[in-house]
Amino acid sequence: MIKGMKTLGLKRKILEVKDLHVHFYTYAGVVKAISGVSFEIYEGETFCLVGETGCGKSVTSRAITKLIESPGKIVKGQVLFYRDGSPIDLLKLSDEELRRIRGREIAYIFQDPTAALDPLYSVGYQIAETMVAHNTATWKEAFRRAVDILKSVLIPDPEKRVKNYPHELSGGMKQRVVIGISLSNKPKLLIADEPTTAVDVTIQAQILDLLRKLRQEEKMTLLLITHNMGVVAEMCDRVAVMYAGKIVEIGTVHQIFKNPQHPYTKGLLKAVPNPLIKIEKLESIPGTVPNLIFPPSGCRFHPRCPRKLDICDKKEPPLIEVEEGHKVACWLYVK
Ligand SMILES: Nc1ncnc2c1ncn2[C@@H]1O[C@H](COP(=O)(O)OP(=O)(O)OP(=O)(O)O)[C@@H](O)[C@H]1O
Ligand code: SF4
Ligand SMILES: [Mg+2]
Repeated sequence: MIKGMKTLGLKRKILEVKDLHVHFYTYAGVVKAISGVSFEIYEGETFCLVGETGCGKSVTSRAITKLIESPGKIVKGQVLFYRDGSPIDLLKLSDEELRRIRGREIAYIFQDPTAALDPLYSVGYQIAETMVAHNTATWKEAFRRAVDILKSVLIPDPEKRVKNYPHELSGGMKQRVVIGISLSNKPKLLIADEPTTAVDVTIQAQILDLLRKLRQEEKMTLLLITHNMGVVAEMCDRVAVMYAGKIVEIGTVHQIFKNPQHPYTKGLLKAVPNPLIKIEKLESIPGTVPNLIFPPSGCRFHPRCPRKLDICDKKEPPLIEVEEGHKVACWLYVK
């Protein structure tokens, strides 16, 4: 049986992204990076955004707290963040209000740990600073808690390491410190954008284990961004597959892996070893990701699609439900 939404027991929404559009106004033209992305994340789940490079995973996750810099602009949409069931639209908040939410209720882990740490300050100072900046501890208390945080992210000898500078730590340790900083204020939602791509394979597994353990212990909700279907299978409850600035399929991990519908999702799954399905040989998806200044008409996947219909390059397919909690944007499923 394919495990659907009901099996996951997800009840309360924590985040709802509605019809999000983000453009970048470049000299070459307007890059329509995100075009009408909508999804919901429920309390306590791990929700994944997956897709090839440039499909808009990072821009979507950054837009959630308006972290889009010039020449980028959020041109349309709503991002509802639910506090005890009541929504607030993050896109309507001032920069100051968002700064208070960012790092406290919603925290980020970015891809490159080296870029996230300041080489001039000890890691203890940088963890403590996040707590002090959000008034969740005094400096003295924050330094004491920094040791506990290093311990919780499994850094050996934390009393000594807390005084280290970033260059004194390995890549894996730096990423754990970054995770520690993002967890220091016990956020409700943790957004991790490719948190393991900058570290080597053995460390990758440790970081993913750590995220899983911390999510359970802290009862956090996790938005995980990856281009790796193996990571999705291992970590996530539900997944949204993105292509060229749109969500093309969304469902539980079981629905997506056992019963993929969109030709792009099928292609992605054939391109990687899949722990849930036996396939004879790995295949690549022909063609390349489109230029988002001039995105393809109709279904943006049509130039690469092996099952293209006449309508596909003329009209955009709607996202329709094919089974409970499983939606797909493809003309093959529109009756
Ligand atoms: N500062 C910018 N200026 C112009 N275009 C941008 C800018 N930042 C992002 N884009 C464009 O927005 C689109 C989405 O980019 P995004 O970084 O979200 O992709 P991604 O899915 O995270 O890819 P990756 O897997 O490589 O991290 C891309 O076409 C990218 O070129
Ligand atoms: S809408 Fe058409 S082109 Fe797009 S994925 Fe479906 S069949 Fe292929
Ligand atoms: Mg990215």
